[in-house]
Amino acid sequence: MRILITGGAGFIGSHLAERLVSEGHDVVALDDLSTGQKKNLASLEGNNHFRFIEGSVLDADLVDQLVDDADMVFHMAAAVGVKLIMDEPSRSILTNITGTENVLKAAIPGKTPTFIASTSEVYGKTTKFPFAEDDDMTIGATKNLRWSYASAKQLDEFLALAYAREVDLPVVVLRFFNTTGPRQTGRYGMVLPNFVVNALT
Ligand SMILES: NC(=O)c1ccc[n+]([C@@H]2O[C@H](COP(=O)([O-])OP(=O)(O)OC[C@H]3O[C@@H](n4cnc5c(N)ncnc54)[C@H](O)[C@@H]3O)[C@@H](O)[C@H]2O)c1
Repeated sequence: MRILITGGAGFIGSHLAERLVSEGHDVVALDDLSTGQKKNLASLEGNNHFRFIEGSVLDADLVDQLVDDADMVFHMAAAVGVKLIMDEPSRSILTNITGTENVLKAAIPGKTPTFIASTSEVYGKTTKFPFAEDDDMTIGATKNLRWSYASAKQLDEFLALAYAREVDLPVVVLRFFNTTGPRQTGRYGMVLPNFVVNALT
């Protein structure tokens, strides 16, 4: 299959790219390298089944073209990390809403199966455990811009499910919980790399 990964130079996206290429798929990774790094994809350099494109999911024409050439899309690109969201709130909100809108709209004509990366943050302040996907959600006030990430991802989920219902777009939404491992950076506020660095220091 020809598979497009947005955010393919990021922590999760780069591991996914390696895995899909190793399974025999042709993978294109689109990334603006805002938090991802080319070196995350070093093992795929020169591989005929892999192509890296530096560009943004906010470029609707580019996204249309790449989705059109793909049999499946993993939409991982997002502004991620509490520090980044607090430092650059408007850019983060627009990346996380408009980027997803561009990807989903591009997937409609070919009914291209699309995976949307959401987050456990959408569970918000709920104190009911364990969480369930159908639970009501309570997030913080709009004055606290930290919650814009959860809110944008909730909107991404709504839009994906709306297109699934309205035009039968095959979508899968996955809510990642704190996912960690090699290549994850603590620079943008991810908790586990920061714990590790602090512990080592
Ligand atoms: N790692 C986690 O614990 C976690 C938890 C919940 C949700 N998620 C979600 O999983 C996905 C991947 O996260 P990650 O941990 O790999 O983070 P990451 O920052 O390593 O990956 C995100 C990638 O998206 C790219 N990107 C950002 N804006 C872009 C744009 N406008 N156009 C193209 N590329 C752009 C970045 O450069 C980066 O490579 C994200 O959607 C994130 O919200 C991750």
